Amino acid sequence: MEIRLKDQSPEKIKTPLLAMPVMEDGLNDPLLQRLDRHLKKSLSRRIHLCKFTGAEGSVLLHPTEGQLAASHVLLVGMGKDDDIEMQSWRKAGARAVREAAGLWADEVDFFLPPFADTPRIVGPIAQGALMSGYRFTKYRSEDRRSLPLRLFNLVKPGLSKTAQMDRNLRLAQQLMNGVFLARDLVNEPPSMTTATYLAEQAVRHCRGSRIRVEVWGKKKIQAMGLAGLLAVNQGSHEEPRFIVMRYQPRGKAQKKVALIGKGITFDSGGLSLKSSKSMETMKLDMAGAAAIIGTMSVLKEIEPQIEVTGYVPTTDNLPSATAQKPGDVIRYLNGKTVEVLNTDAEGRLILADALALAAKEKPDCMVTLATLTGACVVALGNEVAGIFGNDQLLVDKLIQAGREAGEKLWQLPLVKEYREDIKSSVADIKNIGGSSGGAIIAALFLQEFVGRRPWAHLDIAGPAFTDKESTMTTRGGTGFGVLTLLHFLSTL
Ligand code: BES
Ligand code: MN
Ligand code: ZN
Repeated sequence: MEIRLKDQSPEKIKTPLLAMPVMEDGLNDPLLQRLDRHLKKSLSRRIHLCKFTGAEGSVLLHPTEGQLAASHVLLVGMGKDDDIEMQSWRKAGARAVREAAGLWADEVDFFLPPFADTPRIVGPIAQGALMSGYRFTKYRSEDRRSLPLRLFNLVKPGLSKTAQMDRNLRLAQQLMNGVFLARDLVNEPPSMTTATYLAEQAVRHCRGSRIRVEVWGKKKIQAMGLAGLLAVNQGSHEEPRFIVMRYQPRGKAQKKVALIGKGITFDSGGLSLKSSKSMETMKLDMAGAAAIIGTMSVLKEIEPQIEVTGYVPTTDNLPSATAQKPGDVIRYLNGKTVEVLNTDAEGRLILADALALAAKEKPDCMVTLATLTGACVVALGNEVAGIFGNDQLLVDKLIQAGREAGEKLWQLPLVKEYREDIKSSVADIKNIGGSSGGAIIAALFLQEFVGRRPWAHLDIAGPAFTDKESTMTTRGGTGFGVLTLLHFLSTL
């Protein structure tokens, strides 16, 4: 889908769908009244009939029956003036695309209303539009392929394009490419997305003049002492990979950040086997890795002044005659030993390697992204990620970045007292606790490997994947985390 800026007045636009954002109770707007006169009052009649008020989330579709150059007018409710945020504009762009899809239109014109700050809203509207135009169609037969929509115009009479608007539009496009890469990687079937494949994709999409991508095979993983990754991979026929993506800015870096993503390409649970039902969506278990790869792929384009290293430990988690067994002990490169009592708590085992390794390079901060626990989904549902951290400033910055990027993060506590729960009778710690507080226990486990580095952990088990269609997402991977991370990096 292409996004363009266009200087035209709404009554003159020849388009299958003209989207007009309206504020709640702002229906006496002179512009709407002008359109209504053209439409011989049929618009106001429909508004009245449908009791449309412009409330946030509501839309009103009105066929113009040849009385206007546009064949349909879509009123997009923006809610009350004070409640309109950047996210409201993303949703508005997305709704326009949704309705256009319903009409099977190939073009949409989105009117930029005088009540909003045009240069600021074009980016978010474009983001939302692109976001909801995403489809994973690779495995669809011909007639169910992609949307016909190819052009999304942002229109305003007298609009003069500025460099800032162009920049914002280009940025929206670049950010979405990162989100779509993450979604594609998650949506791809799990026998396709092996560790080897994930590494190939990281090379393909991230390698560039300022990014080096290293892919470590089994030998190097052994030599580096990444014992957790090897233990989880023990049951597998596929080789593990450890992917390191290093972005180096031109000139001196202001900060050094480590991003770490869980890359379990399929989580069967291992010998602590999951039920068939809970396995259905377990291709999602590399969504953290996908978000890091998606993020790194955008850095190549936007070139921030910070050094960013992405770490992705990746393997599948399968049972076999050689699989690790409950009761086995892993010795980590920082000297810590872990008793594995449940092979389904595998994410923390591979993240521990990556954290211990990343910490050695003394970054200013480390951020982990992982579909780590079902407990986090129980606590926060599918819209909100849990965030933990040993540095409140870092946590606050990430939450704020998420808010501005349209991704919800809610802080959960690292309860010191619960460390008792992961004490082991044979090793330093064990990989599970009791039956409650599972998301916290997992985070406390990770904390054992971060040393004194400022660190934040995002448990994205809920929002990484969705079973229902919504304004911005189709069923499957959501790309959650990419926008937050990129926005966070831009604020450092
Ligand atoms: N990948 C799962 C967590 C998960 C569950 C992600 C549901 C998305 C949706 C993780 O590896 C896992 O199996 N966690 C266990 C931990 C338990 C064994 C301590 C869980 O949450 O049940
Ligand atoms: Mn598991
Ligand atoms: Zn898992």
